[in-house]
Amino acid sequence: MKVWAIANQKGGVGKTTTAVSLAGLLSEKGSRCLLVDADPHGSLSVYFGNDPDTMQGGLYQLFHQDGNYSSDVTKEQVVSTQFDCIDVLPASTSMAALDRQMGTKPGMGLVFGKALKCLDDYYDYVLIDCPPQLGILMVNALAVCDQLLVPVQTEFLALKGLERMVHTLHMIMQSRNTVLNYTVIPTLYDRRTKASRGALEVLQEQYEDNLWPSVIPVDTQFREASRQGIPLSLLSPKTRGVEAYTNLLAHLLGESESLNQVVASR
Ligand SMILES: Nc1ncnc2c1ncn2[C@@H]1O[C@H](COP(=O)(O)OP(=O)(O)OP(=O)(O)O)[C@@H](O)[C@H]1O
Ligand SMILES: [Mg+2]
Repeated sequence: MKVWAIANQKGGVGKTTTAVSLAGLLSEKGSRCLLVDADPHGSLSVYFGNDPDTMQGGLYQLFHQDGNYSSDVTKEQVVSTQFDCIDVLPASTSMAALDRQMGTKPGMGLVFGKALKCLDDYYDYVLIDCPPQLGILMVNALAVCDQLLVPVQTEFLALKGLERMVHTLHMIMQSRNTVLNYTVIPTLYDRRTKASRGALEVLQEQYEDNLWPSVIPVDTQFREASRQGIPLSLLSPKTRGVEAYTNLLAHLLGESESLNQVVASR
């Protein structure tokens, strides 16, 4: 089981869209995916028809297990979707209180790790959609993931969020005493705008070693896909957005032979 966390300390940069899009593409390859909604706002849960305001259990429940984790209890918190290989561990609005309730309790940074270990036999990929701020949920995600994906909107204000995120990552790496790989993903790219082109140049200069060498373009079909609650690749496979996420996935899986073409056509 591989665990990928999708995080940036900035809102509206394409975190949830990236999680859903990659899960859609992975499921088409037959990989079993668990999408973990670690954002109390619950956009990912809503995407698949779960209401975070009325949700009982879900991810919140895992913080109240007093260190006792079993596959049965953990599996009970998971809900299935209409898509064969995609399940969701949903958020509830109560998660917003977790930092106040649990923030100083020992072991609270390792809850995801313990719970996900119980699900090792059931999933090939776990994708964790993080909230846009640092707290117990993001710390848990960074503590358990094998790889961090950082979507960054190609505009100047978003670069600050990336700076914060990389700083947080270094703190976590120090406490984990490991090196964690991260990939910066330029999103919402519109090559007609100076802001997009300028921000991309800054990313290329400052994050060269960790930058995915292509972009996710603006594609209005993402909004339509979220309105219908379907990953875009399963709704409109021939869109620019799907093509871009397909290339991103190939890159993440180390199958990036088509990348040179994409970079050349940018
Ligand atoms: N490449 C794209 N092209 C057009 N619209 C997009 C694209 N990516 C995301 N969006 C839209 O932008 C909005 C914000 O995206 P998303 O919810 O994925 O961001 P987020 O980082 O998860 O936000 P939050 O921090 O609020 O959870 C959504 O309405 C989404 O449909
Ligand atoms: Mg989101």
